[in-house]
Amino acid sequence: TGNVTLDAGFTNTASCTSAITYIDGDAGILRYRGYPIEQLAKSSTFLETSYLLIYGSLPTPTELADFEARIREHTMLHEDLKGFFQGFPRDAHPMPVLSSAVSALSTFYQDSLDPFDQEQVEISTIRLLAKLPTIAAYAYKKSIGQPFLYPDNDLSLVENFLRMTFGVPATAYDIDPDIVKAVDLLLILHADHEQNCSTSTVRLVGSSQANLFASVSAGINALFGPLHGGANQAVLEMLERIQSAEYSTDEFMKRVKNKEDGVRLMGFGHRVYKNYDPRAAIIKDTAHTILEKTGGGDELLEIAMRLEEIALADDYFVERKLYPNVDFYTGLIYKSMGFPTRMFTVLFALGRLPGWIAQWREMIQDPTTKIGRPRQVYTGEGERDYVAIDQR
Ligand code: CMC
Repeated sequence: TGNVTLDAGFTNTASCTSAITYIDGDAGILRYRGYPIEQLAKSSTFLETSYLLIYGSLPTPTELADFEARIREHTMLHEDLKGFFQGFPRDAHPMPVLSSAVSALSTFYQDSLDPFDQEQVEISTIRLLAKLPTIAAYAYKKSIGQPFLYPDNDLSLVENFLRMTFGVPATAYDIDPDIVKAVDLLLILHADHEQNCSTSTVRLVGSSQANLFASVSAGINALFGPLHGGANQAVLEMLERIQSAEYSTDEFMKRVKNKEDGVRLMGFGHRVYKNYDPRAAIIKDTAHTILEKTGGGDELLEIAMRLEEIALADDYFVERKLYPNVDFYTGLIYKSMGFPTRMFTVLFALGRLPGWIAQWREMIQDPTTKIGRPRQVYTGEGERDYVAIDQR
């Protein structure tokens, strides 16, 4: 084991080559397959961006129509899978429900799990993209005791998700095109981010040749953590604590800077972005537009802007190059749309799904892929002799 180098957190170790997403953390650049995130945010849709990430180029009109039609065919869940939701406690967090249901897809589609069969990977890709919004909506419905709605395939993916989440069978659900557009945009901004914690997890699990569902389920669990996808929930909880006057903004910032109880300014800082997060810049504008429309969360938005203002002028944050990340404003937007805090990370998962799929497919097709198996630096005892229990 002589020749190993310790790199805790892999801050300086590349685990693969990849042609999917480019990030320049110093310049604040993010591109999917070469296209700047700003252009995709302005002109693309979530499904078109998903196609781009997974297949490598923007689809022609026919290719996009075909892709969308195939996804629509698979939006329903098997009735037996629907039954799973009844087994979870009412107060279950929707993230483990989501990962469990995705893991269970391996039991429903046992004939399409071969990672090296192109057609099987293709149908698994479509099933995941089609079913995750339904699974997410059912996890929510279960938590509030409302009936599950079947998907309506006349609707787009985002429209369907909103209807299955907020609609009830008794009344028609009014789809607000501005909300649909905002959700679609947020999904685009989350769609991939090269070798982050959950994506690396998907690749590592997949490197053992585990199937796509198993690998994505692992990625969802990695995303659940508060330092990763769970940050959007943590940001809102932080803002609400300040709002409820548990402590003032200044007191809170003092605690952060003194690292009291390890408290951090959630939604700030990034392993790669050291100047600004280009996704945060786009989202900040959306936050203002949507909050104006829904009229909700004004006070929380003010607290967030105040925290940002203080942080950007404070030596502690400046020296450490800590800027708002993608999650700083997303929670506010989701809340004003009516999503409960616990659903925020689920929305992140819906967005990140095409990235996980694209990265898993790239990994499995790459002839240089080896099973992921990091080394360690051993710090334990040297050799010693076993002592019988009556002599200890
Ligand atoms: N608030 C206060 N201090 C911070 C923060 C923060 N949000 N982030 C980093 N620091 C400090 C940290 O204590 C350390 O200080 P020192 O040099 O004195 O020890 C220094 O800045 C460097 O931090 P690090 O933890 O070594 O940086 P990292 O690259 O390992 O962590 C991070 C990146 C995103 C996990 C971290 O910045 C963080 O915990 N942020 C809050 C959680 C968050 O918003 N996560 C969402 C990330 S973006 C969405 C996603 O991809 O999941």
